[in-house]
Amino acid sequence: MQDIIVERQEQWVEITINRPDKLNAIREQTAAEIMQVIEEAEADRSCRAILIKGLEKAFCTGVDTSEFKQDPEEMFELWRRRKRSRKVNQMFRTLPEVTKPVLAIVEGYALGGGFELAMLCDLIVAAEGAQFGLPESKLGLMPGGAGTQTLPRLIGKPLAKEMMWTGRRLSAQEALGLRIVNHVAEKGGALEAGRELARKIAGNAPLSVMYCKQAIERGTNVSLQEGMNIEADSFFSLAFSNDKEEGLSSFREKRTPNFTGR
Ligand code: COA
Repeated sequence: MQDIIVERQEQWVEITINRPDKLNAIREQTAAEIMQVIEEAEADRSCRAILIKGLEKAFCTGVDTSEFKQDPEEMFELWRRRKRSRKVNQMFRTLPEVTKPVLAIVEGYALGGGFELAMLCDLIVAAEGAQFGLPESKLGLMPGGAGTQTLPRLIGKPLAKEMMWTGRRLSAQEALGLRIVNHVAEKGGALEAGRELARKIAGNAPLSVMYCKQAIERGTNVSLQEGMNIEADSFFSLAFSNDKEEGLSSFREKRTPNFTGR
C-alpha cells in the first residue's frame, strides 16, 4: 500500500490515510487501496468492524485537487468516468453498501471529500480541534461525494446550504450538538474512543449488527410501513442463525456469548 497503512487490531481492521504532504487529500490510488481493504474485511468473518482514520493534523482534506484537471478532449467522457471508473467515486458509492460497521476517527481537518467520507461511514468519533466543512464552492467545485445528500439529511437544509455556500466550518462540539458525530474525545484521544466503541460492537452478534445497519439504511427513505416490512424480513432471517441460539442460551446460563457470525 502506498497511501494507507493497514493494521489488524483485536476484531477489526484500522485504515490510516497516510499522505501527510498533502494533508491527507485522497487520490485515485488512495481510494483504490481503501476499497481493497474494505473488500478483504468484508470477506474476513473474524473482522467485525472497519476504522478509517487520518493523521493528527488532518483526517482528510478532500480529493487531491491535482486530480481535478480535465483534458478538454475528454470532457464528454467525464460523466461516464465519474460514475463507472473513477475510484474516488466508486469508494463513495461503496461505503453505504458495506455490511460491517465503518467508523470514522477524526482528528484535525475533515474537509470536502474528507468530511463526505466521514459522513458515509456509520459512526464518527471526533476529537477536540476537529473541523468539518465543505469548502468546494471556494474552488469553483461542489461536493461530489454525496455531501449535498448526506449533510442536509443530518443537519437540515438551511445550515447545510450555508456551509456549502460560505465554507463555514463546524468545530467538533458544534458537530456533536448537530448529531453529525457520535462522540468527541479530547485532542489525540479519538482513536482510543473509537476502539472502545468498536470493542463493544464486536462483542455483539455480527449478523444482528449487519441486519440493524441494513434495516436502517434501506428503511430511512421509505414509508414507515415499508420500513417495518424490511425490519420484519431481517428479523425473520436472523431467527435461523446459530448466534440467536448462542445469544439466548448465554443469557439463560449467565455467561458471555461466543458469537461466530453464523
Ligand atoms: N488536495 C491537494 N493538496 C492539498 C489538499 C487537497 N485537497 N489540501 C491540502 N493540500 C496540500 C497543500 O496544497 C499543501 O501542499 P504544498 O505544501 O505542496 O503547497 C499541503 O497540503 C499543506 O497544506 P496548506 O494549505 O499549506 O496547509 P494549511 O495548514 O495552511 O491549510 C487547509 C490547511 C486544510 C485549510 C488547506 O490546506 C485547505 O484549504 N485545503 C483544501 C481543502 C479543500 O478545499 N478541500 C476540498 C477539495 S475538493
